[in-house]
Amino acid sequence: MREERTTTSEERTALADGNSIPTIGLGVLRVPSDDAEQSVRTALTAGYRSIDTAATYGNEDGVGRGIRNSEVPREEVFLTTKVWNTDHGYDRTLAAFDKSLARLGLDHVDLYLIHWPMAHLGKIPETWRALIELKAQGRVRSIGVSNFLVKHLELLASESDETPVVNQIELHPHMQQHELREYQRSKGIVTQAWSPLGQGQVLSDPTLVEIAHRHGRSVAQIVLRWHIQLGNVAIPKSSNPGRIADNRDVFGFALTEDDMAAIGTLNADRRIGSHPDSPPKNPLPYDD
Ligand code: A2P
Repeated sequence: MREERTTTSEERTALADGNSIPTIGLGVLRVPSDDAEQSVRTALTAGYRSIDTAATYGNEDGVGRGIRNSEVPREEVFLTTKVWNTDHGYDRTLAAFDKSLARLGLDHVDLYLIHWPMAHLGKIPETWRALIELKAQGRVRSIGVSNFLVKHLELLASESDETPVVNQIELHPHMQQHELREYQRSKGIVTQAWSPLGQGQVLSDPTLVEIAHRHGRSVAQIVLRWHIQLGNVAIPKSSNPGRIADNRDVFGFALTEDDMAAIGTLNADRRIGSHPDSPPKNPLPYDD
């Protein structure tokens, strides 16, 4: 039996195209396909309605199985995937999308993102045009980008009337992205945080530990609550059923203004992942 739940407005974030995205989703970077299937099913049972994968994670097939084999109807699940760096360009992106959809075993994705700008290739506008076409075909409901800097968003704006609804970027208490967040807010672009927990590295921070202790919450919950109160959408990764549930149980309490200010002081502009101008080599090539 599926658990009946009340969804509060805070649990979903409106997108500029009229759709909405669950504020907390499950990330599955570096989760092998079979484990991803299990994590997706665990997450959906725990109340998650958003899963974030990518062609390059090598687990779209497992993610698709997890969604298809769950008791949650497809229409209730918000699925994101991304076109990889070697598939930029109009035709290549369309072909890459077909492969992603086949691996997922689904007929549409909810959000399709350009994974990295790859600005040196000069194909951002062309690749974006392919995403617009996929949306027109109805096989993608919303389109966005990932790891874009302001200059990449400005380039896109100068070439296209269609604004990305999301930019998914590295964002956590040690890398707070003030300028980019502010720019995106002014343009109606939702900020989505990857590595929202700093890949676990921020969880021993004494300031966060103290706030967690005071609220009787885990440190991860404090960090995710901080994201929500900033207006971010976040996709924490966990393969552990207890932590998957913990990370979504963040809608029943609030941080004070003082808590938010204290976390604000932790910014160190410290990236864990790649800089957008030096995108990673394919970390997990999909073998086809
Ligand atoms: P695990 O998969 O064993 O739970 P991020 O989403 O910022 O990339 O962080 C992911 C990392 O943080 C993973 O190593 C994950 O480990 C760990 N993690 C995720 N949720 C929690 C949590 N609630 N408490 C402690 N560690 C967590």
